[in-house]
Amino acid sequence: MRFEKMEYLDWVRSKSKVRINLCPSGMRNFSLQNFGLDRDKLEIYGDNMYGYPPLLEAIASRFKVREENVVTAIGTSHAIFLVCAALLQAGDEVLIEKPAYEPLLAVPRALETVISRIERKYENKYQIDLDEFDGSISQKTKLVILTNLHNPSGTFLKRSTLKDMAEIAQKRGVWFLVDEIYLDYMEGEERETSFSLAENIIVISSLTKVYGLGGLRCGWILAPSKIVKKMRSIIDYTSVEGVFIGEQVSAGVFSQLDSILEKNKELVKQNSMMMRNFIQKEEKLSWVEPAAGILCFPKVEGLTGDRLASLLLEKYNTSVVPGRFFEDPQHIRIGYGVTSGILARGLENIKKALGEL
Ligand SMILES: Cc1ncc(COP(=O)(O)O)c(C=O)c1O
Repeated sequence: MRFEKMEYLDWVRSKSKVRINLCPSGMRNFSLQNFGLDRDKLEIYGDNMYGYPPLLEAIASRFKVREENVVTAIGTSHAIFLVCAALLQAGDEVLIEKPAYEPLLAVPRALETVISRIERKYENKYQIDLDEFDGSISQKTKLVILTNLHNPSGTFLKRSTLKDMAEIAQKRGVWFLVDEIYLDYMEGEERETSFSLAENIIVISSLTKVYGLGGLRCGWILAPSKIVKKMRSIIDYTSVEGVFIGEQVSAGVFSQLDSILEKNKELVKQNSMMMRNFIQKEEKLSWVEPAAGILCFPKVEGLTGDRLASLLLEKYNTSVVPGRFFEDPQHIRIGYGVTSGILARGLENIKKALGEL
């Protein structure tokens, strides 16, 4: 294994103190005060050898799967590592969407696999062409990696498309990993996990983004039981067990997820409208409108995302993510899970900066 620095994660950490920070990809942080949990009942030690049983149960029941199909992880980040470590050997090929969230590329790279790409093009509204996908799978491909909703663009792949893709992969003996960390922004059937769509699908997610609960580091993997067993033995190399006190809080929070979502939805709706109005009026920006959520990846006309991001930072104490961190330098990624007041100020600053360039 060889571990290279993750450029994006390194960069984004350094922006956490910027006054108007539109880099984060999650909702504002939720506080423990809001949950009414009985803190006197929390314990430091307890039974959590393969995950805290009430937490495993809560995850299994939310996604209507069996507990033998659930692994708890320390955030989706840990989940990415566990899935890749369980499925991949040095020299295997991994087919990953482009543009992609950096760790989805960096972890397979660290495991010394060969990376190939399936393009999600702006011109094609970040959708995936099935024939192209079929043609991108080789004899050596072991795993396909996608996000749904897509980070950075916030676009959605229909369940029928995912099913078709997973079936194509399955015929070739290839695993199909879907990172669903943003999926709960969708409504109705489209919000349902893709796990049950095909036997080769593995799903990862966490409470970090949609629920603003990143500090709990509550992540999970839904996978066939034989892969679950393998991942549980890999946990002995990483963390051995979860943090019991965090697992107890997470298990308690699961029953309140729907009400958190309801509260967050109002802000998402308001900010999405503000974002849409802004892009429609701003000549130098164009976008593929996200299906839901608080991430978008607009294209900047006539200059690079880096140039715009630098001016915003230097002159307006405002940060957005330059598109080069998501493999497309003509873009910027804007996260709008902030208060509407902060978003309004951030967009005003983007407008001023664009006027100067
Ligand atoms: C697609 C995707 N997966 C995983 C993560 C990491 O999530 P977690 O905080 O649960 O480790 C992120 C964070 O930005 C992400 O965008």
